Amino acid sequence: MTKDELETLLVRGAFDSEEACGALVPPIFQAVTFRQPEIGVEIPFDYSRAANPTRSVLERQIALLEEGCAGFAFASGMAAITAVFFLFDEGGEILVPLDLYGGTYRLLDVYFKKFGISWRIVDTTDAASLEREFSPETRAILLETPTNPLLRVSDIAEVSRVAHRHGALVIADNTFLSPYFQRPLPLGADIVVHSATKYLGGHNDVLAGLVAMKDEALAERFSEVQKATGGVLAPFDSYLLLRGIKTLGLRMERETENATAIARWLSGRRGVERVYYPGLESDPGHEVLKKQATGAGALLSFELSPAHSIKEFFMSLKIITPAESLGAVESLACHPATMSHASVPPEMRARMGISDRLVRLAIGIEGQDSLIADLDRAFAASAL
Ligand SMILES: Cc1ncc(COP(=O)(O)O)c(C=O)c1O
Repeated sequence: MTKDELETLLVRGAFDSEEACGALVPPIFQAVTFRQPEIGVEIPFDYSRAANPTRSVLERQIALLEEGCAGFAFASGMAAITAVFFLFDEGGEILVPLDLYGGTYRLLDVYFKKFGISWRIVDTTDAASLEREFSPETRAILLETPTNPLLRVSDIAEVSRVAHRHGALVIADNTFLSPYFQRPLPLGADIVVHSATKYLGGHNDVLAGLVAMKDEALAERFSEVQKATGGVLAPFDSYLLLRGIKTLGLRMERETENATAIARWLSGRRGVERVYYPGLESDPGHEVLKKQATGAGALLSFELSPAHSIKEFFMSLKIITPAESLGAVESLACHPATMSHASVPPEMRARMGISDRLVRLAIGIEGQDSLIADLDRAFAASAL
């Protein structure tokens, strides 16, 4: 798909206008149930857990954007990931990246373990060494690329080739780059998941999860999981997400421009020990990112030097808000050790490379100079 086609799809994709009065915006079908014209005849909408007309527009939209055959909308990213893991049977194993999202780690470690589904950490950034990690029990490999919060990049096409040789599915969490910058399905992945709460929604006002699939048979099976588990997205939230998606491209371009300027400003600065941003030519993930994505996104992390108080640094920020989440128009600062990855035990955090001095920034659309001045002030105020 060309950039031009994508930009058009974002605005005009799954919905043209509504039939009754030509509205250009999808109506919010709050109805839970629908008249059955004849008993025993299948109709597209009978009960909103199975399918709802507003949610269906959104589900078609994510399928189009990710170049898949079907889409599914859930009440949160975690509800979407939970439903995906329900595709696997007892005795199966899922391979996961080193610094995967803390909530996904908790879901596997505390809950899916109870159902007899095991998980193992592998280095997804090294496709060659992955070959020996697959076992006859491996059902899937989960990719987050870039990862949260260290922005490590995995080669989706290479990992998919290895996984498929071993009969395993590839699940790509595409939250950080969104389909605007990266589309894992045409690169080889089988399932894409999103915390749509982030870039797709984009305004910090809707919690949602989306899934897109490539294979009709798998999508059919997954549709049953969605109906059975029932963690679906409400009609109003589906509408909000559809609205957010229309400006995805504009927001991501602006946020990435801001993030690139900030990453450059931070690099080599006194008080910063290391910057993690795959948009920088010096970043180890830069070349692979360039191969599979059209932009580096607006998340970056850095190690604050011990010459600064981490607490003071966060408390001195006036525009960039210390808060959970990312991907919206407001810039946010996260302390992964106590926020996004607090559910990961300290020894595991250390293994993942998440130190207590790591700062993750999710850059928004504010003025670039104001954001840099805010960081400058925090560096000055937190110096010991
Ligand atoms: C990469 C990633 N995946 C999944 C999730 C979970 O999404 P949600 O908070 O919408 O449940 C998050 C949340 O931060 C995330 O960062």
